[in-house]
Amino acid sequence: MQAPGVTVFLTGLSGAGKSTIADALVAQLEAEGRPVTVLDGDVVRTHLSSELTFSREHRDLNIARIGWVAGEIVRHGGTVVVAAIAPYDAAREAARALVEKHGRFVLVHLSTPLEVCEQRDVKGLYAKARAGEIREFTGVSDPYEPPSRAEVVVDTSVTPLEESVARIRAAMAE
Ligand code: ADX
Repeated sequence: MQAPGVTVFLTGLSGAGKSTIADALVAQLEAEGRPVTVLDGDVVRTHLSSELTFSREHRDLNIARIGWVAGEIVRHGGTVVVAAIAPYDAAREAARALVEKHGRFVLVHLSTPLEVCEQRDVKGLYAKARAGEIREFTGVSDPYEPPSRAEVVVDTSVTPLEESVARIRAAMAE
């Protein structure tokens, strides 16, 4: 029998380490001959959600689309890695429900503290948000609800990358 599909859903603040962990996880899986579909927030917002803003309604719609696509891929036994802020618990749980109809869902909360994300400010967006140049910025002027249930919680300010990936792999294998 074909192994069930799985979606690893990385949620957390901008700069929490979602893309870094996604890249390392995907490299490892593909090196093992396992193809992966990556649904990264920035890329999804370019190709699939380009008309959406960062209002709650539009963020929820963005996550609903991601959840639906992930479910379709998992339905055929595929592996999906999502990297999105996904600040609202209800939207994440709705995505979980869509995926779990067909396979497994591993929610990974990157709990890296806001101060660390802001210190990193890889894209310079926190500075812009503090200056009022970007509105509704998660962690600054918009909420982030920590997950009510996450299979894995990783603070990338204290956990090395290899260990984070290993913990996610262990949860995928359960
Ligand atoms: S989500 O809330 O809908 O899940 P998503 O992960 O797709 O967000 O996109 C987040 C990315 O959009 C951030 O990494 C950042 O580069 C960019 N961005 C632009 N404006 C905002 C904003 N107001 N809040 C959060 N991220 C923003």
